[in-house]
Amino acid sequence: MATGAPQSGLYRPCATILGWENAPKPLMLLIEAQTWLIQTLINAGIEPAEAEAESRWMLLETGLSAVQMRLNPDQPLSAASEKQLKQMLERRQKREPLQHILGHQPFWDLNLKVSPDVLIPRPETEELVELALAYLPTQGPVQIADMGTGSGAIALALAQTLQKRGQPAEIWASDLSEGALAVAQENAQRNQLEKRVLWLQGDGLTPFFKQALQLDLLVSNPPYIPLKDWQELAPEVKDFEPRLALTPGEDALLFYRLLASEGSHLLKAEAWLCVELDHGMAQATLALFQIPTWQNAALKKDLRGCWRFLCAQKSPSKHHSP
Ligand SMILES: C[S@@+](CC[C@H](N)C(=O)[O-])C[C@H]1O[C@@H](n2cnc3c(N)ncnc32)[C@H](O)[C@@H]1O
Repeated sequence: MATGAPQSGLYRPCATILGWENAPKPLMLLIEAQTWLIQTLINAGIEPAEAEAESRWMLLETGLSAVQMRLNPDQPLSAASEKQLKQMLERRQKREPLQHILGHQPFWDLNLKVSPDVLIPRPETEELVELALAYLPTQGPVQIADMGTGSGAIALALAQTLQKRGQPAEIWASDLSEGALAVAQENAQRNQLEKRVLWLQGDGLTPFFKQALQLDLLVSNPPYIPLKDWQELAPEVKDFEPRLALTPGEDALLFYRLLASEGSHLLKAEAWLCVELDHGMAQATLALFQIPTWQNAALKKDLRGCWRFLCAQKSPSKHHSP
């Protein structure tokens, strides 16, 4: 007796008999795609709210508009869109950040290229830009420096805003990483701001001292995650973002010590420093600025209610005399 697969019509799947196997696969509906994306992302360990937001962003990347998505959830996706979503999802399931997959991130009124060379700019940093603008003179030419510029997010957001205001500004931005500076310069071009920022490579404040700057504002979002916390970071961060951008090593306060001890020499009298920091080390950072070269040092909360920023004013020069 034959033991192979049954060949008679009786045992063949009916789709074969009817020829349906060659029929085109029905196209996935938008609403089905949304459910598929969200569920796959959740299964990969992504928070439900984040999964929902990301599924929306992925669908927008296929060329759908927000209005189409809202008004016509039963529309079929094209085969090309479905393929594009599948490719994105495969990478995202491995916890690669969506911004790396798409290659860009909105920040302020900018569209920034992001790559593994730069920190993906975070929404809190937009609040730092807002804060910095509040401490900047609103009239006349201003000079600004951004230490550890990464993608150029802060420097370019300030440049864009001052350009829109018609306020003359000289802006310098530095980074130790040449790869980051290349991305920042590309971002300046992308956003038609290439003549607005001067990019300097070097360690800490050294590039600014070399230019003998006297600034109206010094701003920075330096690396501040202590190395001991590295393993607790999300896979998107620890496996894909540059370590140089995240951690200064064992001493989480390293860059704040530098800014507190040397930053005032780069500022005009009574000009301001604004920095981003971690909630957990806010008080320790504030303590570094309780020295005579600084006045009015204060912590500020972000929109989520966490201590996230510190602003300090350079004291008038008479306070420095021995
Ligand atoms: C937290 S990221 C901030 C990037 C960007 N400013 C932002 O807010 O999205 C810190 C940046 O500091 C840079 N950096 C690290 N060590 C540095 C050093 N010793 N001197 C200058 N920049 C440094 C990193 O390359 C990184 O781009």
